[in-house]
Amino acid sequence: MEYVIETKDLAREFDSAEGVLLKKKRKIIAVDHVTFGVRKGELFGLLGPNGAGKTTTIKMLTTLLVPTEGDAYVHGWHVVKEAQKIRNHINVIFGGERGLYLRLSGKDNLRYFSDLYGVPATTQKERIPELLQLVGLAEHGERKVETYSRGMKQRLHIARGLINDPSIIFMDEPTIGLDPEGARSLRAIIQGLTSKDKTIFLTTHYMFEADELCTRIALLKEGKILKIDTPKSFKNEVSHVTIIEAEGHHIPRELIDALEARQTVRMVTTSQQDMNQVLQIQTEPSTDVVMDILQSLHTARLSNIHIREPSLEDAYIKIMQG
Ligand SMILES: Nc1ncnc2c1ncn2[C@@H]1O[C@H](COP(=O)(O)OP(=O)(O)OP(=O)(O)O)[C@@H](O)[C@H]1O
Ligand SMILES: [Mg+2]
Repeated sequence: MEYVIETKDLAREFDSAEGVLLKKKRKIIAVDHVTFGVRKGELFGLLGPNGAGKTTTIKMLTTLLVPTEGDAYVHGWHVVKEAQKIRNHINVIFGGERGLYLRLSGKDNLRYFSDLYGVPATTQKERIPELLQLVGLAEHGERKVETYSRGMKQRLHIARGLINDPSIIFMDEPTIGLDPEGARSLRAIIQGLTSKDKTIFLTTHYMFEADELCTRIALLKEGKILKIDTPKSFKNEVSHVTIIEAEGHHIPRELIDALEARQTVRMVTTSQQDMNQVLQIQTEPSTDVVMDILQSLHTARLSNIHIREPSLEDAYIKIMQG
């Protein structure tokens, strides 16, 4: 199988700031010898908690940061030895508002970045309106970017990321900070790109987003890959359970203890949500067991009781907790 992105024991260390102050060399291993491959046309997701090493991985793959150990290849070119060749064929989109010229119009931003990439003027003439159209900014191309909403800026970022017609696009949390509707329209744009033969490598903290978009997901924790698989296989990990959720003001300790004592119950967790406590029970999926638990929740006068199938988030939490 041929990969368009491939890493072999890729690693990156940093000297910690603390170490510098104490004049001690304390190293942080941000990415700890990861090996994986991404196929052409895939929408590959890198997931993991804050500080797991996702951005550092993207920076090495996009030739912005040199690995301390191991190798990585993009289109078969080595990220250090052949960085320049790679740069012409990729682009990277970081979430947030940096990297656009606020005083310039959307269109002038795209012209500026086209020039940087050496896109010929005749190509620019066609491509810039096409890209503005693609990201839903055709009507707003002449407006200064400082008048754009956050969602519009994020969409302009996507257009900027496509300006050199890259075959691989890296996106670091592309939908961060967007309202649900804005995030949804951006996801539709991202999904549409793979049908144009582009390969996408993205990070996100939104599990439903990864579930909806990604062909495969790699879970990263403390710089190491825990698992690489399809969203479906991830969910299969926890599919032998049913999840029951309920809310209450003060969920009695005795109820939680009694649930935990049941042989058929795998996991009971509580979390605070606004004024309410939310109780989550992972149990064997048999009807009798589930009915019995529902009865005890009713008796304890809990509200919003519902049953659901495991999500990618449930699988994520299970795997992260080891
Ligand atoms: N330039 C740097 N100097 C020192 N440490 C760094 C540097 N860049 C990253 N790190 C450290 O490397 C680790 C991985 O950081 P990275 O930004 O790759 O994580 P991440 O998975 O992208 O996290 P997040 O979800 O918060 O964006 C962290 O411990 C971080 O503090
Ligand atoms: Mg990051």
